Formats: sequence, structure tokens, C-alpha cells
Amino acid sequence: MKFFIDTANLAQIQEAHDLGILDGVTTNPSLMAKEGVKGADAIIEHYRKICEIVDGDVSAEVFSTKFEDIIEEGKKLAAIHKKIIVKVPMIKDGVKAIKWFTDNGIATNCTLVFSAGQAILAAKAGAKYVSPFVGRIDDSGWDGMELVSQITHIYQLQNYKTEVLVASIRNPNHIIRAAELGADVITSPLSSILGLLYHPLTDIGLAKFLEDAKKM
Ligand code: E4P
Repeated sequence: MKFFIDTANLAQIQEAHDLGILDGVTTNPSLMAKEGVKGADAIIEHYRKICEIVDGDVSAEVFSTKFEDIIEEGKKLAAIHKKIIVKVPMIKDGVKAIKWFTDNGIATNCTLVFSAGQAILAAKAGAKYVSPFVGRIDDSGWDGMELVSQITHIYQLQNYKTEVLVASIRNPNHIIRAAELGADVITSPLSSILGLLYHPLTDIGLAKFLEDAKKM
């Protein structure tokens, strides 16, 4: 399972990269705005900086919702760097655009996916990644991982090539569940990735080893 970091923060991307486990980055308009990135030139420059840090795919999301505009915006994003994956929302014009990008050699990540039906459409259109938002589903009182289980099952049965990218991760357990369900990728905040590291018995065990090491 690949590990993507879900942020536009350069320091956090660098930290995850330096850990040696980073396979890519996902961003969205909210994450870019959080970093204070404003205006077309600044956006392009910021994506370039992310691509320079990471060895792997970098999802950059379109703001447009009309087919022609999505195509124009997506072409510009894809031209920034070969690592850029054009992130397209799961709407009617988005599905049409994903098919167009697929036919024209531009890789896509279909975002804002909340149902198996949407995941089937994304795969049919040829998206490289499909992004079910597990945390937001959990927040609304449903089970996000149930959707991941359904999508991975359908994709396997139907032999769809689209990779299941589990998004909207809220905690380390989401990452473990995604691995158990055979997801291809998770995209997570740095805190949940680092959360995988900790166990109190590791801390207690290490303290004892260090204490005993002094007697050697
Ligand atoms: C996916 O690619 C999105 O950027 C992201 O995972 C959304 O997460 P959130 O629900 O924490 O905003």
C-alpha cells in the first residue's frame, strides 16, 4: 500500500519524505488556501516546489465544474510537472473530463467519492485513482471503511485498474483498516502517519533497555 501525505505544507511533506516512506502527495483547494497560496503564479510555483520534494504522484485539483473549463485547467496543471495528477470532482462534467484526460494521456484522481456507484463510474472513465472520503463518511454517522470494502471488492471482481486511494483519514486506525482491506493507497495527515509509530510498551521496553545498557 502506497503512503501519500494529504497536505500542501512544504515542511510536513519534507518531514514525511525524510522518513523514507512517502510515495506521493494529495492537495485540495482547502489545503492550498490554508498555506496562503494565492493567484495563478503562486499556485504553479507551489505545486512545483511539492514536486521537487516528493518522489511520486502529486494530486492537483481543478476549481472548474464545466467540462471545457475542467479540460483547460487540467491541461495547465498537468503541464506544470510530470508528477502532477489532475484531481477532478465526481460530478457529471467531471466524469466526462476524466474520460477525456484518460484518452489524452493525462492521469486523474477522482475526488469526493462517497458511494460504490460513483467509484464504478470513476473506474469506467479510466481514473488512475478513486478517492473515497472515509473520515467525512464516519463524521456523518456512517462507516467509511464499509465503502472501501465494497469498492475494493467490486474492483477486484470487475478487474478495474483504477487504484483505490483511501482519503479523509482521521487516525492511524484508518490506515491499518485500509491496509487490511487491500487498498492501493492511503492519503493521510502527517499526524496519523506518525501515530502509527507509537505504542506505550515500546516506550517502556526502550526505557528498560537503555537503563540496562548502562550496566554493560
Ligand atoms: C483527498 O484527497 C482530500 O484532500 C482529503 O483527504 C480530504 O480530507 P478531509 O475530509 O480531512 O478534508
